[in-house]
Amino acid sequence: MPARSFRIMNVVGARPNMMKMAPLFREMMSASFLDPVLVHTGQHYDYDLSQVFFEQLRMPQPDYNLEVGSGTHHSQTAAVMERFGNLVRESRPDLIVVVGDVNSTMACALVGAKELIPVAHVEAGLRSFDRTMPEEVNRVVTDAVSELLFTTEESAAENLEREGISREKVHFVGNLMIDSLVQALDTARASALKARMGLEPKKYVVLTLHRPANVDDPERLARTLTAISEIARDFPVVFPVHPRTKAKIAASGFEGAREWRSGMTGAGILTIPPASYLDFIGLVDDAALVITDSGGLQEETSYLGVDCLTFRENTERPVTVLQGTNRLVGTDPDALLREARAVLYDGRPSRNGQHVPPRFWDGQAAGRIVGVLHNYLLGQASEGCASHQDLR
Ligand code: UD1
Repeated sequence: MPARSFRIMNVVGARPNMMKMAPLFREMMSASFLDPVLVHTGQHYDYDLSQVFFEQLRMPQPDYNLEVGSGTHHSQTAAVMERFGNLVRESRPDLIVVVGDVNSTMACALVGAKELIPVAHVEAGLRSFDRTMPEEVNRVVTDAVSELLFTTEESAAENLEREGISREKVHFVGNLMIDSLVQALDTARASALKARMGLEPKKYVVLTLHRPANVDDPERLARTLTAISEIARDFPVVFPVHPRTKAKIAASGFEGAREWRSGMTGAGILTIPPASYLDFIGLVDDAALVITDSGGLQEETSYLGVDCLTFRENTERPVTVLQGTNRLVGTDPDALLREARAVLYDGRPSRNGQHVPPRFWDGQAAGRIVGVLHNYLLGQASEGCASHQDLR
């Protein structure tokens, strides 16, 4: 066992980071050669988008909260860089770990590169090849400056190789999001939300929409929701609404959604506040269909075997289409309605091939990552440290 602990600075910023970081952080806490520290940038700050995930995913409270809050992409990125930069200069960690593709991910990776502290990127190499998505820019930049690139699916290594990133830096470890899902599934299945809403298994739809391309244009958003109203005549469509979408629906003039309240039954588009992790997974697991523009949900439905229509032109997660239950339907509301009807009325599944859970989506990704960190950190130490004998 090594004589010293390596200080690892782990970063979360926005909701989808939480389910990736939680299992990894716990695994790090049980590894005696690591001294993990948790930093929350504060990109997401509402209880529903942040604190509830710490509680349900059994993640300790962050050691530091940078409280950057909302803003334009550049002002938010700059605020994270400035505050995280100060923290890193003071505490000089041995490694920085960032997850996913949000603005906080890229900002903290850049700080690591500038401060000459190695960066590990979890969920590296995913590409939509669509640079109009802010996340795509974040992915490319983060991968370019990372020393360790942990991938969730095999397509990622090819993308990284095409960008000139050495294969030696790339480690195929599987999907931390599925680690969280595996650990939470039994509890999530017992969530009371479905019963409270009077939903019958496989007789309702779950909808999430939050990408700027889908929600920022009010006329387009209203057309999309009008199309979805057609299936909502027969199937309740449960719609946990992200704050940015909520504001856009109000601006779009669409009035066909009802805010769900206790005791309310029947079909229609039923909006609820952003759901907690356990309530949400419980909802998705029993849904007849999921309609989404989220990245993570394409993975979760693929693992659970739930039909999923992705309302986007592209996906950075092609394995969910090849082996999972995900179908890309593009961004035409009429096409979405056609495909949704095919699943719900004609019983035609959304999957395009055989449903085979992707390799290493097995709940063990965190252990694999810590194994790689062990070899990497001890290798670095024996190269750079005079007293490396201590570390053997
Ligand atoms: C961010 C990520 C996106 C991820 C999503 C998950 C980037 C570029 N985008 O998008 O990849 O899929 O999180 O939710 O990093 N707001 C609140 N409360 C909060 C946080 C935000 O009300 O706690 C509102 C604010 O009006 C804010 C807006 O939501 O301006 C957008 O927040 P932001 O963090 O910029 O991006 P998201 O749309 O949440």
